[in-house]
Amino acid sequence: MAHPVTRADVEVLFSAEEIAVRNTLLAKEIASTIGNEFVIVAILKGSCVFIADLLRALYHEGAAPEVDFMSLSSYGDGMTSRGVVQVVRDLQVPVQGRPVLIVDDILETGRTLAHAKDLIAARGATHVWTCVLLDKPVERAANLSADFRGFECPDKFVVGYGMDVAQRLRELPFIGWVRPR
Ligand code: PRP
Repeated sequence: MAHPVTRADVEVLFSAEEIAVRNTLLAKEIASTIGNEFVIVAILKGSCVFIADLLRALYHEGAAPEVDFMSLSSYGDGMTSRGVVQVVRDLQVPVQGRPVLIVDDILETGRTLAHAKDLIAARGATHVWTCVLLDKPVERAANLSADFRGFECPDKFVVGYGMDVAQRLRELPFIGWVRPR
């Protein structure tokens, strides 16, 4: 069996400091566009670190969102999308008649975000906004762009700051890319 990918295989792409600066600006954009009262739907697991920092940045902009989580998965333990989005854990808050901001770590094919957006719109949200920390300009399977985005991401396999390779390295405080062996 191949050795698991470790910190030693990872090059820094966006440092913790760069991410913090970007989160502050993103929170300003979000609060000035959406206002203070809205529902955040964070897509797990990859957004777990981003949402924790973005929420606190939103607090400093005066926003008071209700927060819930939806666990969606299309990559499993591999490095390429299986193309089928599975709802692993559904929302518990009602979104009918409320503005919603979906937050995810990365936009690649767009299948995950499109699936979440369709589900939430079908449940009667008044407006569904989307925010991703990383936008990878690869060919989209879904016709979608994010309303708020942190960084354009090079077409490399990225990990850290909540994102995994085979469920590892989510704990890295920065975003890195995995050097091919
Ligand atoms: C990753 C990532 C996004 C999605 C983006 O999730 O966190 O949610 O893929 O890819 P897409 O635009 O091609 O759909 P993954 O399925 O790996 O699950 P995880 O967040 O639990 O790691």
